[in-house]
Amino acid sequence: METKLLHQGEEKLAAEILAAGGLVALPTETVYGLGADGLNEEAIKKIFIAKGRPADNPLILHIAEPQDILDLVLTLPPKASTLIDEFWPGPLTVILPKTKTVPSAVSADLPNVAVRCPANESIRLVIKYLKRPIAAPSANISGKPSPTKVSHVLQDLNGKIDAILDGGDCELGLESTVVSFVSKAPCILRPGSITKEQMEDLVGDIAVDPAVLGRIKQGQKALSPGMKYTHYAPRAKVVVVKADKETYIDFVNKNSSENILSLCFEEDKARINGKSISYGKEKDTTSQANLFFDALRKIDNLPEIELVYARCPYMQGVGLAVYNRLIRAAGFEVIEL
Ligand code: TXA
Ligand code: MG
Repeated sequence: METKLLHQGEEKLAAEILAAGGLVALPTETVYGLGADGLNEEAIKKIFIAKGRPADNPLILHIAEPQDILDLVLTLPPKASTLIDEFWPGPLTVILPKTKTVPSAVSADLPNVAVRCPANESIRLVIKYLKRPIAAPSANISGKPSPTKVSHVLQDLNGKIDAILDGGDCELGLESTVVSFVSKAPCILRPGSITKEQMEDLVGDIAVDPAVLGRIKQGQKALSPGMKYTHYAPRAKVVVVKADKETYIDFVNKNSSENILSLCFEEDKARINGKSISYGKEKDTTSQANLFFDALRKIDNLPEIELVYARCPYMQGVGLAVYNRLIRAAGFEVIEL
């Protein structure tokens, strides 16, 4: 199939392709999503095939207006309501018990549904033209880094989907914060640009699912099925190096070779003797979030690289989200120096 490239202003055409049961990659403020009509089971099944996504990994439904969530969930607890009022439209996904409107292909047979009202005006317009929610996971091949540019989507899905709506580079670069309201206390299943601290200021304590920072143990149930799969992994082996700046630079300079690359911060580059790619500035976790997935894809374009030593980000605020993606890219291999 030929993948059509659509531009800003062609949202109506994108909605028509979706209404006919097609797949369109759409821009959001986090990462590009691979959209299908969220109420059309057959269209939703095509997403799983195009991405090679395991059928037990549920999808997020994207809505145009915050109040549209009411058709999709059985209850809206006060804390969920407070967060939605503050952060929607924006990079927050909430998980709640679903209504019968939600097809089981979306929720992978779970009794809950993930819902998000994105801030990106272009995808919101497509949803308004379609007049239905859009089911959309990140628009990458399962296991690959999430796409933050049209070129990333094309690398993975050209010829496999009907169209891509070009919205330029994604503003944030990491996927949305996912918060579950299924148990009594709210729980972060995936950290993102909206931080634990920001949410706790409004609703009090929020738990963090153990899978956010560690590997899920054999037999342990994943609250968010997506967390149990290898993720974001480039072809080369990645090892996270937890060390201060000087120790990290020393370590990579002592262990440098043709096949080793340092994934470091901008300020480190000039002092590293071997090959390096930077992902943002040392003290600026937002810039790290923005550049991280692109950096992983750049590594994949260097066929000689077999091993990557990645500098560990600071784990506060958005840094927690960056760390969460990095340890998955590293298959949880961490060296502490
Ligand atoms: O920013 C984002 O969230 C992007 C853009 C496109 O909106 N979407 C995205 O979707 O990252 P995806 O499918 O790549 O990641 C969704 C995550 C997965 O880890 C999935 O397992 C989890 O949310 N999830 C979805 N529905 C769920 C549910 N009902 N219960 C628990 N986890 C769920
Ligand atoms: Mg994804």
